[in-house]
Amino acid sequence: MNIAVFCSGNGTNLQAIIDSQKKGYIKADIRLVVSDVPDCYSLTRAKNAGIKALVIERKNFKTKKDFELKILKALKKENIGLVVLAGYMRMLSGDFISAYENKILNIHPALLPSFKGSHGIKDAFEYGVKITGPTVHFVTLDMDAGPVILQSPVKVTEDDTEETLAEVIHEEEHKIYPRAIQLFVEGKLKIEGRKVRILD
Ligand code: GRF
Repeated sequence: MNIAVFCSGNGTNLQAIIDSQKKGYIKADIRLVVSDVPDCYSLTRAKNAGIKALVIERKNFKTKKDFELKILKALKKENIGLVVLAGYMRMLSGDFISAYENKILNIHPALLPSFKGSHGIKDAFEYGVKITGPTVHFVTLDMDAGPVILQSPVKVTEDDTEETLAEVIHEEEHKIYPRAIQLFVEGKLKIEGRKVRILD
């Protein structure tokens, strides 16, 4: 199976996915990295790993439709079977999601359905929760609302700052995202309504 990873930033999840694939844990081909941010560090990581990387910026297209068509064309060319969003800071349209229905994963740094949106760690920390942690889920039209695949609970300690908490959450992300991807690759994720059954 060919995988495309979409990134906009630092790309520590991309790195964890690359490392897992190199170790033979993810048995699939990371064929493409797609970024909407020309100078983000994810692109350097892709380059270092010898993975083809494409920068496709929204500002270079008149409409969101044209922008996404360009991406879809690139995915088709590489025969991509799974799209992995790893810190990709754009909402995908219904048309895009339909083109890859149940084949797009995302990771969110809070225990969904709590603290949706782009500040999941900060929002959970400021709310004062005692447990938080990342969620891997299928992508549907509504933001951070698709069926949950894996979650990893992280305790918030008395000494935690937002930064120390973020570090622990990221460590967990780097474990559960490769695991969820490999489950998908093995065909072990069965969506039943809102639930994802993990097959043995
Ligand atoms: C992660 O915290 C992820 O949960 C969120 O965006 C962040 C990406 O971090 N969706 P990185 O670019 O993988 O380091």
